Amino acid sequence: MAHSFSIFRNSVVNFLFLIGFVTLQLPVKNAKPATFLQDFRITWSDSHIKQLDGGKGIQLLLDQNSGCGFASKSKYLFGRVSMKIKLIPGDSAGTVTAFYMNSDTDQVRDELDFEFLGNRTGQPYSVQTNVYAHGKGDREQRVNLWFDPAADFHTYSILWNHHHVVFSVDEVPIRVYKNNEAKGVPFPKMQPMGIYSTLWEADDWATRGGLEKINWSKAPFYAYYKDFDIEGCPAPGPSACASSPANWWEGIGYQQLDSVAARRYRWVRTNHMVYDYCTDKQRNPVTPPECMNGI
Ligand SMILES: *[C@@H]1O[C@H](CO)[C@@H](O)[C@H](O)[C@H]1NC(C)=O
Ligand SMILES: *[C@@H]1O[C@H](CO)[C@@H](O)[C@H](O)[C@H]1NC(C)=O
Repeated sequence: MAHSFSIFRNSVVNFLFLIGFVTLQLPVKNAKPATFLQDFRITWSDSHIKQLDGGKGIQLLLDQNSGCGFASKSKYLFGRVSMKIKLIPGDSAGTVTAFYMNSDTDQVRDELDFEFLGNRTGQPYSVQTNVYAHGKGDREQRVNLWFDPAADFHTYSILWNHHHVVFSVDEVPIRVYKNNEAKGVPFPKMQPMGIYSTLWEADDWATRGGLEKINWSKAPFYAYYKDFDIEGCPAPGPSACASSPANWWEGIGYQQLDSVAARRYRWVRTNHMVYDYCTDKQRNPVTPPECMNGI
């Protein structure tokens, strides 16, 4: 415990030092607070999802009977999605809280995943990200969060434009998947994707290959969501939208990481990355081409 706390404290100090007094203020235009039911519907186990605060927030529940899930009513082609999530506190090992986008097309699936893998009390949550493009996935990365994601709400977002996909935690990029079509690497750009979230049991794989099992005597487990924000081109919708360079998420400031964001991203990769498919020689004896392009 003492050991992991000091690692945590050191990384906070390190982080504060790194960002100094520079604040990143990207203009967020058209931000609109959405109530849950405005943009989403329950897809799995109604009885395990409860609306809070007049629909501005929700509670997801996992017990031995069921997990639960929700999805956006529309699909979107490019844009940015964000929500605030407070994860299961205490002994959450074996639970997975997911937030992802998915084209829902079996053969040529596009998918962008955030998966929050629970852990034993006092051990860090891992955030696994993955990118499927044109049906090919197997691009897992894992980072350990530098704060306790169950103590408070934090913002998780996916920015998706013609240039890259950026997964961020509180405005800190933790994953960038660039458009490397010039190198023959597929990039999701043809299919609209819906936004999904689920809370479920995955102790057969999530805990270091299934080493740790869910402790059901701690159930029910709760995760909380609020501040849903979707900005993107709805599909079906105006067909010119997705290719319009006038969308703010396609703007010059969003086509690559600026210097502050790039520094934060390097900080995450240096200090918090615990797994990267790019460097897993057993799985990928030949480095995948998208991994060779720097960050
Ligand atoms: C849980 O904590 C252990 C020990 O700190 C760590 O090795 C592991 O990556 C963490 N995450 C999961 C999902 O087990
Ligand atoms: C499961 O939780 C119970 C109740 O808190 C505790 O007594 C038990 O030791 C836990 N089991 C494991 C494997 O952590």
